[in-house]
Amino acid sequence: MSKEKTLSIIKPNSTLDNNIGNIISVFEKNDLRIAAAKLTKLSKEKAEGFYIEHKERPFFGELVNFMTSGPVLIMVLEGDNAVVKNRDIMGATNPANAAEGTIRKLFAKSVGENSVHGSDSLAAADREIAYFFDKNEVLNRF
Ligand code: CMP
Repeated sequence: MSKEKTLSIIKPNSTLDNNIGNIISVFEKNDLRIAAAKLTKLSKEKAEGFYIEHKERPFFGELVNFMTSGPVLIMVLEGDNAVVKNRDIMGATNPANAAEGTIRKLFAKSVGENSVHGSDSLAAADREIAYFFDKNEVLNRF
């Protein structure tokens, strides 16, 4: 198994619902560790840049509005196979399709207000981590 880093965002519906700790506890129970963390409110420009690949999608405006509507906790998670593991732990994008015990099944409200973002590949993880963190802000345990 390879040690990896991935980007995770706890989205505004879950920070506002006071579920930050509950969600982090799911990561920790699955042996993912926090290597960096930032609690912030995204600007419109920062959110648009992050989701630029979805710019032409009909839900882009709604997505940016939601992601700037409240605080987000942006984290680098690390562990064995962190990218795929995090996606498994999050569950399907639409909580209606998410498996029992996944974060989205437990905490998400809708496909838009779906509680967490996680990088979908190692290349995306590298790009997304660099989008939010300087190298010296990320712990390197391995
Ligand atoms: P995320 O993993 O952050 O990546 C892109 C996001 O777009 C996704 O999670 C969803 O929250 C959001 N999204 C995808 N499809 C829709 C949709 N049909 N309506 C609103 N938001 C969507």
